[in-house]
Amino acid sequence: MLNFATFIFFTIISFCLCHIGRSRRHFSDEYRISTPACDVVCEGQWKSEFHVNFHKLYDTEYFEIPLDTTIVKNRANLKLFCSSTTQKYTCLRNECNISRTPWSAEKHICVGHYDNFDRNINCLSLTDKYVQKECSNVCNAIKIELSQLEINRMTEMDFSKQEKNEFIEQNKHCNFIACHQMCHEYVINKICIDSAASARAVVKSYYDAYLNREYTSLNKDDHDELYSSFCRRVTPGQDENAFTANMTRFNNLTLDRMRNDIRSVFSILD
Ligand SMILES: *[C@@H]1O[C@H](CO)[C@@H](O)[C@H](O)[C@H]1NC(C)=O
Ligand SMILES: *[C@@H]1O[C@H](CO)[C@@H](O)[C@H](O)[C@H]1NC(C)=O
Ligand SMILES: *[C@@H]1O[C@H](CO)[C@@H](O)[C@H](O)[C@H]1NC(C)=O
Repeated sequence: MLNFATFIFFTIISFCLCHIGRSRRHFSDEYRISTPACDVVCEGQWKSEFHVNFHKLYDTEYFEIPLDTTIVKNRANLKLFCSSTTQKYTCLRNECNISRTPWSAEKHICVGHYDNFDRNINCLSLTDKYVQKECSNVCNAIKIELSQLEINRMTEMDFSKQEKNEFIEQNKHCNFIACHQMCHEYVINKICIDSAASARAVVKSYYDAYLNREYTSLNKDDHDELYSSFCRRVTPGQDENAFTANMTRFNNLTLDRMRNDIRSVFSILD
């Protein structure tokens, strides 16, 4: 393991390489505010270890949605990723006195649900190639529509151009996440006969938590009106009709279409 201080340098470099990719979001700003240098160093150290362990750049070659091949490939990879992640949180606590950290995908996997991921690693590993290929093909190509009711509401509420864009982007993001969740669960049912229920639960809890964080981060800034009805439909505990009434049918149709697209891409495998 490399020295804590040398990562100050690494970190400066790695923070310039970021924020590109399929579905990457960095919410680490939330705790960077109070102690700028220290936690950035823990984060940089973790990313460097990722690079050393997996010969890939975390910022550009690791994806949170769908679950990344790097970690579900096999038990050894999961273990390696998680031991480094656990160290990151130890670093934050011991070096920076930060014990309360926001939700992150890696924290969910490695701190909150490691045993569940570990128990289901065979199924996750077996399904991975379909998730990466077929699911990505479908989910990158799904047709995303906004209902006229929500378009009207944006006008009524006098959304700025930027707010409209944010709403549309967030809605796309939710469609992408929901599609991957549905697709992964579909593949699990096809492939992991005995352990399907348990593996499905692991995947569901990951996506549920991910979507919940999407909502929370808008809500925290008092911008939850930018969270679309579809986003609410797929996020646990949210009401799809909260801001716009009568959205259930529209969202049903969106989900039905997604399900059909997924089925048809796998029909060749049946
Ligand atoms: C660590 O943080 C807590 C509050 O978050 C504070 O009460 C405590 O004094 C801090 N300890 C050190 C060593 O800075
Ligand atoms: C919702 O749909 C019902 C039945 O179609 C209609 O009576 C009602 O006015 C609608 N509500 C809104 C707010 O559009
Ligand atoms: C939406 O789908 C659910 C089942 O998934 C069904 O019970 C409900 O009646 C549907 N609602 C509308 C308005 O289509």
